[in-house]
Amino acid sequence: MKRFVVKLGGSLLFDDDGSVKIDFVKNTLTVLREAAKDDTKIIVVVGGGVTARKYIHQARPYVENESALDQLGILASRLNAALLHSIYYKTFPVIPSSLEELARIVASALPVIFMGGLQPGQSTTTVSALAAEATGSQLIIATDVEGVYTADPKRDPSAKLLKSVSIDSLIDIFSKVQKAGEYRLFDSLTLQIIKRAKIHTRVLKGDPPENIIRAIEGEDIGTLIEPA
Ligand code: UTP
Repeated sequence: MKRFVVKLGGSLLFDDDGSVKIDFVKNTLTVLREAAKDDTKIIVVVGGGVTARKYIHQARPYVENESALDQLGILASRLNAALLHSIYYKTFPVIPSSLEELARIVASALPVIFMGGLQPGQSTTTVSALAAEATGSQLIIATDVEGVYTADPKRDPSAKLLKSVSIDSLIDIFSKVQKAGEYRLFDSLTLQIIKRAKIHTRVLKGDPPENIIRAIEGEDIGTLIEPA
């Protein structure tokens, strides 16, 4: 049985006003159903997107507790995961809230498992690395650009797409840019987990969703992160 964790950024699934991009979501679910056919299990980690940001932004003036604000983001990402689960299975959504619960569901017959955040102080990208480590999965990070660039491609037109990059170079790139508060594709915890567990990781554009199948089938698409 092959296992993959797919991180789906909120920006792929929702418009700026928070409404679901239903055609994109339906196409993505069709792709996941297709990919999960051949003895393959897929864990989908869904980002909090605009819903998380809206709730956190609205509560912040009244709540001086970052973990409480994080919890709003976590619940928003789980709500997004529940939306995908209910559309996919047309049943009551069950969203794991810990790695222990995830491991239990992975042991069941469900071919595709949807989840969101787990605990304060991290991102859903970190969750995707933790889930990949815990379940022995490859990691696919589906985002809104073609892969990992030398700098934030939305801010720096000279940024170059990397076909592959070592985990140590990536740690280097992101330790520098994070200080400037830019290029937030990876945080250091995520990179440390990818490094210590030597997780096979690919970053790619989630639109069109067929890119996910191409990566699952082993095509060299987007950016491959090479373990140290
Ligand atoms: P995301 O990681 O989804 O942030 O978590 P995002 O920037 O909106 O990502 P995309 O674009 O949807 O992929 C949303 C918020 O939820 C909290 C954090 O506050 C984060 O900013 N969170 C999420 C946690 O505290 N822990 C988690 O495990 C996950």
